[in-house]
Amino acid sequence: MKTIAIISEKGGVGKTTLSINLGVAAALKNKATAIIDLDPQASSSEWGDLRESDNPAIIATPASRLNNVLESASEEKFDLIVLDTAARVESSALNAAKAADLILIPCCPSLFDIKALKNTIDLVKIAKKTATFVLSSVPTTGTVGEESAEALKDFEFPLCPVKISSRIAFKRSLVEGQGVQEYEPRGKAAEEIAQLYQWVDKQLKKLK
Ligand SMILES: Nc1ncnc2c1ncn2[C@@H]1O[C@H](COP(=O)(O)OP(=O)(O)OP(=O)(O)O)[C@@H](O)[C@H]1O
Ligand SMILES: [Mg+2]
Repeated sequence: MKTIAIISEKGGVGKTTLSINLGVAAALKNKATAIIDLDPQASSSEWGDLRESDNPAIIATPASRLNNVLESASEEKFDLIVLDTAARVESSALNAAKAADLILIPCCPSLFDIKALKNTIDLVKIAKKTATFVLSSVPTTGTVGEESAEALKDFEFPLCPVKISSRIAFKRSLVEGQGVQEYEPRGKAAEEIAQLYQWVDKQLKKLK
């Protein structure tokens, strides 16, 4: 069983969107997957309520119970766990970071979002881990994506080569309780998530 944590102290940067879509991507590759929802806001859980499929399973828990829940998940033979965390709740991101094999930090391509990364980077360091930035909600026109990628070079963590664009499918799929690969299998959002999952899977295989 491998565990990915999606963390960011900043709100609304795409943590839940990435958690859900990576969870669905893994499920579509026949991995027994669970999304552990550590956010009292419970967005992943609400999305799960709209779903018919139980892969990915959605497990809501307070951060203080994460290790117990991971132990049970390991006994249940899940292949992959995705930790969706809360913004501005240190215990959520910190416990997730400590438990994770791979940490992703979604970041929107804006100066304020990039400046706000410091708190999240500090948390990862407290957990004695490293992480990878993932640019998310990148406009499909203009050069702000490349400019942000350049700005992120000033930080000590690497940037994932796959960027997630701002696409309406990411919003529409949510209300259907789907991932973008289910909602619009041939769409560009689906292609981006397939590429992100492929990259994630490669990183996890390197750990074996
Ligand atoms: N790539 C994208 N394209 C379009 N909309 C997106 C994308 N990623 C996220 N969004 C939208 O941005 C909003 C915030 O996304 P999301 O809930 O995933 O962020 P979050 O980091 O989990 O927020 P919170 O900190 O509140 O938990 C949502 O309305 C979501 O639909
Ligand atoms: Mg969220």
